[in-house]
Order: sequence, then structure tokens, then C-alpha cells
Amino acid sequence: MMGTMREIRYEEFGGPEVLTLHEDAPESVPGPGELLVRVEMIGLNPLDGKIRDGSSGRARHLQLPAGTGRELVGTVLGGGEGLDECELAARGVAPGTVVFGMRNLEDARGTAADLVAIAADDVAPVPLEALPDQLPQYAGLALAGLTALAAIEDAGELQAGADVLIHGGSGGVGQLLVQIALQKGARRVWATGRAQNAERIRALGAEPIPYDQVDWRQTIQQATGGRGVDLVLDTHYFTTFEPSFDVLAEGGRIVVLPSLADLAPARERGVDARIPRIVSGRERLDRLVALQRSGHCDVEVSEVLPLASIAEGQRRLHEGHTRGKIVVDLRGGRGE
Ligand SMILES: NC(=O)c1ccc[n+]([C@@H]2O[C@H](COP(=O)([O-])OP(=O)(O)OC[C@H]3O[C@@H](n4cnc5c(N)ncnc54)[C@H](OP(=O)(O)O)[C@@H]3O)[C@@H](O)[C@H]2O)c1
Repeated sequence: MMGTMREIRYEEFGGPEVLTLHEDAPESVPGPGELLVRVEMIGLNPLDGKIRDGSSGRARHLQLPAGTGRELVGTVLGGGEGLDECELAARGVAPGTVVFGMRNLEDARGTAADLVAIAADDVAPVPLEALPDQLPQYAGLALAGLTALAAIEDAGELQAGADVLIHGGSGGVGQLLVQIALQKGARRVWATGRAQNAERIRALGAEPIPYDQVDWRQTIQQATGGRGVDLVLDTHYFTTFEPSFDVLAEGGRIVVLPSLADLAPARERGVDARIPRIVSGRERLDRLVALQRSGHCDVEVSEVLPLASIAEGQRRLHEGHTRGKIVVDLRGGRGE
């Protein structure tokens, strides 16, 4: 007989209130090429809310009821067809291994459940020295980290020696953008954020620009002697995208994160503007681990919530001013 588990689901698109905790959902079963993972913690992302309220392109073909959440850290319990114990061991994900990862773009299932089935290539082992203390950091690393790599390497094509401006330098993705841009050899990195986040931005190695106190365009023009920056990485978009055209150096580029951003104003001004597309998979997850171990991917977890408070976490993310990552801990309800 099949067992039951806890799972967060929603029956209709809407605000965080549509999220419902089910205590007796049928246990997940891994399909071919999938792992069965006991979820320990999940990281929350603005994308969760955009899928849940139906505004994301990812919601277009979603079958309701649906689960929520994209990323996780958890313990491998076994594998589906094609993944016997030998194959799991060969991939470094034998039963008992703690892994982290993110569902790929085509996989619309959630991660906020006691057990999930997830493609084996969508997770990577968490290094032993990180356990158990860094479980929350690894729960929030995959989506923001893969986004930062896609923004800096694929869309941004950041070159060593470049001057970079990051909008939203203390957010989930922004903090990793700062660190990875510096690791890639950026010459100077400025990052906007409210004054209360300036210290964190400075600690990451960027020059903070408190946008609630100073005019960031003026600051960049003064600091670069009117030249501007080679690359803008814009995690905010709404009030920052078009004004950023004025601080781009000749031949500069802007990478804007929200997938629904309208690039037409950039085209009209002849500005090179791009939206990054996440490349998921084991190779990049392993690179994130290497970056993390060498101190270039430090995830700040600002809050850890129980599973029953996931709606509150998504509500706060929607407000747009959380710092680092919010993580949900599923272990409590299981008596661990
Ligand atoms: N294209 C993709 O594949 C992809 C992947 C991941 C994420 N995204 C999108 O990227 C965006 C950022 O994601 P995230 O996880 O980093 O979000 P987040 O953790 O909620 O961070 C948002 C940040 O924006 C800052 N902010 C708010 N108003 C601002 C303003 N006027 N000027 C500058 N910064 C401002 C906030 O800092 P303060 O509190 O200091 O204002 C906060 O640090 C979201 O829209 C998300 O959906 C896209």
C-alpha cells in the first residue's frame, strides 16, 4: 500500500492564500532517470509566486492542482528505472547522500513536500564538510546560483577588467552576482540596495550605492569620470532598466533578470539588452559547489520558516525587499 506525506498544493492560481498544506498526499514515486529524495529544506524564490499567481510563462501549461517550490536540499532514498544502486553510486548519489538542486525549466512539479521525485541530473552532492551546518545555504543555492552563472557568463559575457553595476545587490541572486562577477575578474563592482543593506554589499566586495539616499546614476557617472560601466546586471527592472541605459559605456550591455521584462526600449536606443536563461544540470551545480567551497558563493539565509509558513515567505518575497534567501525547513513536522 502506498504511504502518505505532507505536500503544499494549490487548486487555482492566486495569492499566497491559495497554498494549502495536505497531510495525506500520496507519496512521490520516482520515474525513469529520477531520484526519490527526502526533502530537508527548500529555498524560496520570486518565481514561485509568479507561477502560483499565473503571471509567469511557466504557468501557461501547468496542470492544477500543482505543487510549489523549485529548489531543495534533501537526502537520496533511491532511484527509479535505470538508476540501480551501482548507477547511483557511480554518480555519487548513493542512498543516504545529501544533495541539492533545482527542477529544470521543463519540470513544473514543486519541491515543497516530504518526498520528491527529481531528475538525477538536476541535483548534485553537498560536500560532507558542509553538513549539517550549511544545509540552509545549500537549500537556497541552486536557483540563484544557476541564474547568476547564466547572467554573468552566458548573457553578460563578462570579461576580466570590466566595470559592473548590479541592481539589487543584497537580494537572493544579487549577492551571488556580486561574488561571481568579482571572481571572474571584474575591475570594479557597484551594487544598489537600500542603505540598511550597504554593509552586506560592502562585505561581499562591491561598492554599495544606497538608492534610497543618493542618485545612483550620478554616483556611477562621477565614479567612472563619465565613462559608465561595461555591464549592468539588473535584478530589479521596474525603475532601473531604462535609466541604466544612461550609465552604460560605449559597447556596454545590460542583462535584466525578470523574464517578462520588455526589451523594446533598449532596442529603440540601440542598447544591447538580454534576459538570461538558466542552464540547469549537474555540471553547473558542481561548479556552484566549487565556487561555494572557495568562498565565492556565500548564500546569506535571512530567515528559516516552518512548512506551514510558506505562504508568509512567498508574501514577503513579493514585497521585493527581503535580504538573501528565505528557506523553509521541512524537518520539524517529521519530529526530526
Ligand atoms: N531570468 C531568470 O531565469 C531568473 C532567474 C531567477 C530570478 N529571476 C528574477 O530576478 C529577480 C530577482 O530575483 P531575486 O531572487 O534576487 O529576488 P529577491 O531576493 O527578492 O531580491 C530583490 C532585490 O531587489 C532589491 N530592490 C528592490 N527595489 C529596488 C530598487 N528600486 N533598486 C534596486 N534594487 C531594488 C531589493 O533590495 P532592497 O531591499 O535593498 O531594496 C532586493 O535585494 C526576480 O524578479 C526574479 O523573478 C529571473
